[in-house]
Amino acid sequence: MIPAGTPLTSPLGLGTDGLVFGCDYNPEQWDKQVWHDDVRLMREAGVNLVAINVFGWSHIEPRRGDFHFDDLDEIIALLAANGIGVNLGTGTSSPPPWLTTLHPEILPQVGDGTTRWPGGRQAWCPSSPMFREHALALAEATALRYGQNAAVKLWHVSNELGCHNALCYCDVSAAAFRGWLERRYVSIEALNEAWGTAFWSQHYAEWAEILPPRDTLSFINPSQQLDFFRFSSDELLDYYRAEAEVIRAVSAIPVTTNFMVTAHIKTQDYWSWAPEMDVVANDHYLDHRLGVPHRELSFSADATRGLAGGRPWLLMEHSTSAVNWQPQNHAKAPGEMMRNSLTHVARGADGVCFFQWRASLRGTEKFHSALLPHSGTDSRVWREVVELGSLMHRLGELAGSVVRSDIALVFSWEAWWATDQDAHPSSELRYLEQVHLAYEGLLAIGATVDIVAPGADLSGYRLVVVPCLYLVSDADAQVITDFVAGGGHAVISFFSGIVDEHDSVRPGSYPGAFRDVAGISTEEFYPLDRAETIRLSGGATAGLWSELLHLRGAEATARYVDGPLTGMPAVTRNEYGTGVARYLATMLDPASLAEELARAASEAGASSLAPVADGIEIVRRSGTEHDYVFVINHTDAETPHPFSGHDLVSEADIAPGGTVAPGGVQIIRQTKEAS
Ligand code: GAL
Repeated sequence: MIPAGTPLTSPLGLGTDGLVFGCDYNPEQWDKQVWHDDVRLMREAGVNLVAINVFGWSHIEPRRGDFHFDDLDEIIALLAANGIGVNLGTGTSSPPPWLTTLHPEILPQVGDGTTRWPGGRQAWCPSSPMFREHALALAEATALRYGQNAAVKLWHVSNELGCHNALCYCDVSAAAFRGWLERRYVSIEALNEAWGTAFWSQHYAEWAEILPPRDTLSFINPSQQLDFFRFSSDELLDYYRAEAEVIRAVSAIPVTTNFMVTAHIKTQDYWSWAPEMDVVANDHYLDHRLGVPHRELSFSADATRGLAGGRPWLLMEHSTSAVNWQPQNHAKAPGEMMRNSLTHVARGADGVCFFQWRASLRGTEKFHSALLPHSGTDSRVWREVVELGSLMHRLGELAGSVVRSDIALVFSWEAWWATDQDAHPSSELRYLEQVHLAYEGLLAIGATVDIVAPGADLSGYRLVVVPCLYLVSDADAQVITDFVAGGGHAVISFFSGIVDEHDSVRPGSYPGAFRDVAGISTEEFYPLDRAETIRLSGGATAGLWSELLHLRGAEATARYVDGPLTGMPAVTRNEYGTGVARYLATMLDPASLAEELARAASEAGASSLAPVADGIEIVRRSGTEHDYVFVINHTDAETPHPFSGHDLVSEADIAPGGTVAPGGVQIIRQTKEAS
């Protein structure tokens, strides 16, 4: 158990000593006698940060302007008396019924013009001035009351902004969209040019004629759609800023909101959001609709570290076991919660928190897992929670240590928006799937990867992987070209470099922005059916995509041996400046992709690689005095590994030739090698 009143001071800036172990708590759902039990059990579990008031609005302000903070005062005092820090929600994430009754105009509309009603959550239009006025009034009242409260360690603005309401198509949003477009393009002719409105009689004479991309009979203008995604992300970021500003006017406590770097939500361009956060925080849930959910977890964690600029970040939510919102909600296997939590820590999290403390009895989340399940403390989940809490406390020395890599993977929300639009060569090509495949290929070769934004400084890297970067600006593409010219190595895959930031095709051959660096020119795309497999020289198989590609300086390292392009180049390698660019014109089978990435990494001299067996993840965090090697075993077999040192999980020494238990995790402390 963490001693009550443990002093608080960590690199996250939350004042916690060591790592954060926390949860969401919704005391408004429980009688006050339960609060005391809860806080006692929180101490038993080692919880040191609790998010409250995330959905508090109707409780605090049950009628317009009628604020009741007594319960919040009481719970904050109770947590503080028990040495538990508070992650204080501004409470604005869901409007109370009185507000939507008084002002139904704040309700959001979807693309067919129909309204989405209260009764769920987040039923508000991101552009609504009326919503903003009331939400900011609540945020201000809350900030004034608790802005100097020593128990409050972090401000939690709203909740998962854009989870449900990112895209609103109402008239208020339409006006805001026009304002955003005017600021971006200044002249209507510049917009007409960017959107290609000469096509299908879409030319605009006046700003007032422009609408959000509401449902149409046919395909919609792709540039309009793309700008609407940009606008919608900016609009919620602007909303975040407004709340943060109100808080910062009266409080010096760090401010954040929880991101959703996840496969099923793509509406926020977090590269633009991250610089506005005092602490980068992410929510992640295993998605069993994906092939191997824990690999997507690793991607999300690495991407969050990228958003945090390599600094420690906070996992604000994950689950102890099943969620309630997938078609089948799988309970976690014994040890899985520990592996999930420690994978986030391995990849740079200085804290792991959960949704939620006590499983609800009512409402749509009553079958969502919690730290304290319906079955109470005599449960596997609870025992594992207590074990994890105690381990997180023992891992305090990791706080502030960092993950280093000399391999970067370029990931872009804008490219995701653009790539997944309709009317492309293949509707089977999905951006995130290709990003995940490239990432998984790197995992398979034991690489630790930094996820970076297009245009990011690549000077510290030896290898950059660029999966399907369909949309890229000239300037951002140039960064990759310059990196290769200066001696870096790149692996670029099909359908990259095709369009500029307006979704306009670069004239000439494909892959547009990358044809010089790759030393190739593609004449035409030959997408393949999902079920179709083609063979390449060298033994690889491939699918999904192929290209009629000509060598313009590059060499072919593999050619098609069957399919429509038999004999043509499929994989190429080009020496450019003092570096090398490889191009994959087709989707290689996973093993061949991993081999190609291994060749590139080895030729690049990349060092952030570890020897791995299948199903084992190795990640290293570096502190000032020690390195910490995380060995995470996703298999059900005891597996040998080459690392030795003191294991912080078992508190035992691991001699050379050691093994990691089935499903187990080791965190092996090693004295840093003198550099
Ligand atoms: C998140 C949300 C939480 C809870 C959780 C359930 O999206 O922030 O409030 O709903 O999902 O998995």
